[in-house]
Amino acid sequence: AQRRLADAYGRVAADLRLSLTDRCNLRCTYCMPAEGLDWMARDELLDDDEIVRLVRIGAERLGITTVRLTGGEPLLRKGLEGLVARLAALDPAPVLALTTNGIGLASRAQGLKDAGLDRINVSLDTLDPETFATLTRRRRHADVLAGVRAARAAGLDPVKINAVLMRGVNDHEAPSMLRWALEEGVQLRFIEQMPLDAQHGWRRTEMVTAAETLARLRTEFSLVVDPAHAAARGSAPAELFRVVGTDQTVGVIASVTQPFCGSCDRVRLTADGQIRTCLFAREESDLRVLLRGGADDATIADAWVTAVAGKQPGHGIDDPSFLQPDRPMSAIGG
Ligand code: GTP
Ligand code: 5AD
Ligand code: SF4
Repeated sequence: AQRRLADAYGRVAADLRLSLTDRCNLRCTYCMPAEGLDWMARDELLDDDEIVRLVRIGAERLGITTVRLTGGEPLLRKGLEGLVARLAALDPAPVLALTTNGIGLASRAQGLKDAGLDRINVSLDTLDPETFATLTRRRRHADVLAGVRAARAAGLDPVKINAVLMRGVNDHEAPSMLRWALEEGVQLRFIEQMPLDAQHGWRRTEMVTAAETLARLRTEFSLVVDPAHAAARGSAPAELFRVVGTDQTVGVIASVTQPFCGSCDRVRLTADGQIRTCLFAREESDLRVLLRGGADDATIADAWVTAVAGKQPGHGIDDPSFLQPDRPMSAIGG
């Protein structure tokens, strides 16, 4: 019987964001320190059987319709294509999406598409190889560009690009990045940086706001709100603008200045099997202990329903009592 993952504020979660590993092959300065983090041990991670079982329970019993695979960097997960194929074979099958930094994607995009991946989002913060090397502490800029092209060539549609702008580092690139995205036929979205870095160095006053980004873009482009897009936004984090003179859009994800928590339909599962109902949740619910303790599907579904029922109304970044969660973005999934 179908139940719903409803919370006390009238929201229903249908979008599962599934972190497959906390590891990453980049070291973005705004995410983690140069030496990396204290990674999860192999036996702490859910294995493929456990993941497939949880997604099956979500899709069969709880109304999960979309699954986004995240990390860390999800392409680092061994056998990712096989996992995608198993998730795509579920009945009902969720829509399958991937958020990746693009390293190694050039040789894997077609295989992922063939395995059943529907959509892909690639993170790219700069068009300058030197800025990329400073920002990510790795010289892999060309790999990412090749990955974006391969994703398009494989027929993944749309391909979305996520960019985080930082003052004095890459914020001047906003217009040139949009020109590039228009040429490549990808949808660019600028994300406001959130307090989720492992180093706890985020400062609101240093954050580049969506309003600033739009003002910069408008020095070179005419952007208009497209009523069709606005009406269809639903629970999507991105607000889209049509670029006049093209058939393409550009987006801003204003998580901090224009929170979209009121329409959030997301629930997260960490690579170590914890349900997080919000990026900023202070508590988690342990599904791994149930899985490994021999719980049946109904018991796991009950625990999942109970977890989402306790979801907080919003991120509370502007509350005086706000505390950054212990788990960094890389161990939650973007
Ligand atoms: P699409 O369905 O393709 O639009 O996916 P998406 O935009 O939800 O996915 P993606 O993984 O590309 O997320 C882009 C960025 O949106 C993330 O890196 C976050 O910064 C932000 N984001 C996604 N979900 C949430 C959320 O639940 N809360 C907040 N505050 N930000 C989120
Ligand atoms: N705030 C907003 N976005 C972030 N990302 C990583 N850290 C943060 C943060 N603190 C982005 C990455 C990538 C996506 C998965 O999340 O740049 O695009
Ligand atoms: Fe890796 Fe993403 Fe963190 Fe960069 S932001 S270090 S790509 S997990």
